[in-house]
Amino acid sequence: MQKLLHYLLLSCCCLFSLAFSYLPNRSQFNQAKNYEGSSDLVDLRYHMGPVLASPIINLYIIWYGHWNPTHQSIIRDFLYSLSSPPPSSHPSVYDWWSTVRLYTDQTGSNVTGNIHLSGEFHDSRYSHGGYLSRLSIQSIIKTAVSSSHSGPPLPLNPHNGLYLVLTSSDVQVQDFCRAVCGFHYFTFPTIVGVTVPYAWVGYSGTQCPGMCAYPFAWPENSGKPPPAGTVSYKDYNKNIMRPPNGDVGSDGMISVIAHELAEVSSNPLVNAWYAGEDPTAPTEIADLCMGVYGTGGGGGYVGKVEMDAWGNGYNVKGVRGRRFMVQWIWNPARRRCFGPNALD
Ligand SMILES: *[C@@H]1O[C@H](CO)[C@@H](O)[C@H](O)[C@H]1NC(C)=O
Ligand SMILES: *[C@@H]1O[C@H](CO)[C@@H](O)[C@H](O)[C@H]1NC(C)=O
Repeated sequence: MQKLLHYLLLSCCCLFSLAFSYLPNRSQFNQAKNYEGSSDLVDLRYHMGPVLASPIINLYIIWYGHWNPTHQSIIRDFLYSLSSPPPSSHPSVYDWWSTVRLYTDQTGSNVTGNIHLSGEFHDSRYSHGGYLSRLSIQSIIKTAVSSSHSGPPLPLNPHNGLYLVLTSSDVQVQDFCRAVCGFHYFTFPTIVGVTVPYAWVGYSGTQCPGMCAYPFAWPENSGKPPPAGTVSYKDYNKNIMRPPNGDVGSDGMISVIAHELAEVSSNPLVNAWYAGEDPTAPTEIADLCMGVYGTGGGGGYVGKVEMDAWGNGYNVKGVRGRRFMVQWIWNPARRRCFGPNALD
């Protein structure tokens, strides 16, 4: 699972990826590439497994540790935005998800268009401690579906359930901030009782914003912020792009959550949509577009995104007037990275 996958592309442009993980770091952003010109070299293929195609997918959040309610509401609003077309507000989170819906399984069923936030569990007792291994994320899910310590347990839903474990700023997770910002996988029946897809994302605001809250923070010692795309804010050039909801950690998490939800939906059992020959180190539909948020993005440039009068960057709109910044994903029909704010 830790193996690095290395693609040698045209003009020696390299993209690295970690299995099922979201890892943007500076060298990766400098090397990341918008594949518009080299799509023939992307061997994204379908490997016959299921996608999350139920008409409704029930998403359950497990808040592990101590969470700020303001940060929680940013994340909830993003999740609500996935399935709610906001009237006349383009480009929207809903439109962004429509690229994920282009992926189908062997029965021709598309990835769902309805991800419903159906339950939340607050593990504020740190039931598995403050230092977590990757595998212990599954034990946290087991606790959330069986413990009634912090309110009613979540349903264990192998039919159309998806579990999202979010760890708070004080929780250390194996490889977090060193190799990964999030990952997705599926549970083992020996731990949880059934196989259900899940994703984990950590709050990076205090531990490693420079690694996991791009483009609102940048790696220490990199010397300069990532170059930002500017459309509407002419004076912007020296300051780093500001987060649209006022919190670097949460706004940075949104794109990681988006990345993991796109990938778990198109590759929930790691046998559906991915590129590369090695299923233990798949390059998935969001891995192909890391660091790309708008037209022209790649190579350390986020691309053309919107900037409001306060310097807050965003590329999609959601419920309750929210704005978010989410990376693009690979569009199988256009054979390039794409998002609803594309200019072409
Ligand atoms: C950054 O990414 C590159 C390429 O994926 C990798 O070789 C390097 O170890 C990473 N650096 C850190 C600090 O994780
Ligand atoms: C389902 O996927 C197919 C193939 O990508 C696509 O043509 C179709 O528009 C998708 N349907 C929806 C509702 O997105």
